[in-house]
Amino acid sequence: MWLPCRCTLRAASFTPGFFSSPCLNVLRRKSSWNSAAFMPEAAAFQGVSGRDELRDFSVSDSDRFWAAVARQRLNWIRPFHRVQDCDLSRGRIEWFEGGKLNVSVNCLDRHVHTCPERVALIWERDERGSEVRYTYRELLEMTCRVGNLLRRHGVKKGDCVTIYMPTCPLAVASMLACARIGAAHNVVFAGFSAEALAERIRDAESSTVITVNQGVRGGKVTELKKTVDAAVQSCPNVRQVFVAMRTDNPVAMTARDIAMDEEMLKEDVVCEPEAMGSEDVLFLLYTSGSTGKPKGLVHTQAGYLLYAALTHRYVFSYHDGDVFGCVADIGWITGHSYAVYGPLANGGTTVLFESTPIYPDPGRYWDMVERLKINQFYGAPTAIRLLIKYGDQWVKKYDRSTLKTLGSVGEPINTEAWEWYYRVVGEGRCPVVDTWWQTETGGICIAPKPSEPDAEIVPGMAMRPFFGIKPVLMDTEGNVLTSNNISGALCMAQPWPGMARTIHNNHQRFIETYCQPYPGYFFTGDGAHRSQEGYYQITGRLDDVINVSGHRIGTAEIEDVVNQCPAVAESAVIGYSHSIKGQGVYAFVVLKKDVNIQEADLSKQLSNLVSGKIAKYACPDFIQFVTRLPKTRSGKIMRRVLRKVVECDLDGLGDLSTLDDPAAVQEIIQGHKKLSSK
Ligand code: PRX
Repeated sequence: MWLPCRCTLRAASFTPGFFSSPCLNVLRRKSSWNSAAFMPEAAAFQGVSGRDELRDFSVSDSDRFWAAVARQRLNWIRPFHRVQDCDLSRGRIEWFEGGKLNVSVNCLDRHVHTCPERVALIWERDERGSEVRYTYRELLEMTCRVGNLLRRHGVKKGDCVTIYMPTCPLAVASMLACARIGAAHNVVFAGFSAEALAERIRDAESSTVITVNQGVRGGKVTELKKTVDAAVQSCPNVRQVFVAMRTDNPVAMTARDIAMDEEMLKEDVVCEPEAMGSEDVLFLLYTSGSTGKPKGLVHTQAGYLLYAALTHRYVFSYHDGDVFGCVADIGWITGHSYAVYGPLANGGTTVLFESTPIYPDPGRYWDMVERLKINQFYGAPTAIRLLIKYGDQWVKKYDRSTLKTLGSVGEPINTEAWEWYYRVVGEGRCPVVDTWWQTETGGICIAPKPSEPDAEIVPGMAMRPFFGIKPVLMDTEGNVLTSNNISGALCMAQPWPGMARTIHNNHQRFIETYCQPYPGYFFTGDGAHRSQEGYYQITGRLDDVINVSGHRIGTAEIEDVVNQCPAVAESAVIGYSHSIKGQGVYAFVVLKKDVNIQEADLSKQLSNLVSGKIAKYACPDFIQFVTRLPKTRSGKIMRRVLRKVVECDLDGLGDLSTLDDPAAVQEIIQGHKKLSSK
């Protein structure tokens, strides 16, 4: 694996705890508003005197707000001439028209210019205590070498490169190298199976793949190159696979494979950046929807980068010199926006976490916080819930005094997890920011911060819209709900620069999914409650998408795979509450007549099928074999009934008279009792 020759870490600045109130709900510190110190652009917005007013201004005069921020925070090769040209009802979203820039220059060159020896990346390798630091100069050199290598092998502007790698500096350099030469990247989470990878390579029309020989996570070796070999068998367009060495174990190489580490050494450390239009594609990222086929969401250059940078700075109160620790894998949007693009655009020091929260023991995160002097820690509630079970001693063993902000992402954070995070991890002095957003939104849209210094933070609530974000709640008829203390479908009334522009090769699906349900608004797919005070709390998905350990998966995707088993006639998959994963997967399966296999064997077969075709996290925790599913007379599966049975809420079953065969429910209830008592 490509390693830098010199490792230096600029001392991280440590600001004593910003919040010191012992009160959980109200975190206070009075300060007078100094707009220029808070946000230099705000000084030019007359009459704006406070963070709340700035938020109002960013929504009411969004063109002025975003123009000022874009000019101040991005380096442009050519300035933009129009701030936005958006029509949400048609799914037309364009920002900073006419502008040209290069994202890798914004993430690297400009910082190399001012502080070449500042640490850009700290790679927290799976092997504890073996972290490696890369300065901005080193990361730029590595990026340029990869950029030149890709160019030499025919990758050009407009191509799409698939990256199937663990979280590591070379993966970041590969992403930035694509951005440098104008190619889009398509990072596929390295936990996905060969088939899931192949589907994403084909849909993205990639002819180049970058991978490593083997991955290492939680002490276990995964055969990533072999997975790529299997995947590309069904991808006739793939003409080259770059293979870097994460471990010392050689792998079989074919004529298509290129030894990346060796070849990079032959390349120059200077690589001419492409001038990219604001709306050229920066990356595709596949995510699950309510149908079986994952969607390749498209993010573009300027708007995405600007939004990632601004949210990174203001939601987490990131200051120059801080060490930012986002533990998400780069295969997800959180890794893209807050391990890579946001921190690097801000010239920050960002941690790349390759391991798991419990490897080699449950103190891993906090040992890392102490060793790397992390100031902002950003993780998922599922990991917090897991760590609670191991006890406080694993946290208290380590010095966490550098921590200033704790972030939560990907799923609702329950009060118990929030309080433990706040009290035990943060010792009651670090604000916890529950950040709501999605692959589609590009960056955080609702979070407790930024807010006035004396503003309260309510546990388990995302609370406040970010600058430029205007959330609305809708009733089932599509009316905007204007009062407080009300729940509805969460939509966005205004476009913002970070939002996805389309679904790759399927703009119609983009329009149907996000723009048509509530014409003129962007529909998020989530429900939310607005409290009496006007704060937002996410109540969960309104579609058939579930969230397992913070990973989003469509139930239809799992059903499609289960139904491929020759013994299966049909299936229905639902999510159920799981104490650690947030949601678990529960599958109801109807077998074909005359199938004569032991249920236990079949369960195993089905689990293998799901992990082989999608990924391990999508495997059902429970498989209940039934003779029939509850259906309406028109043949639609009544998932509501299945959910109630699994939640043991039989009083909530409601009206079953519309069912084709109400007796089916009794059988399901009995079967569920039997299964859950095992
Ligand atoms: O349902 C919401 C949930 O995760 C979905 C987005 O998943 P994905 O695109 O994979 O991105 C995850 C990382 C941003 C949302 O539609 N979700 C995300 N954050 C929260 C959340 N649910 C509740 N609270 C959150 N803070």
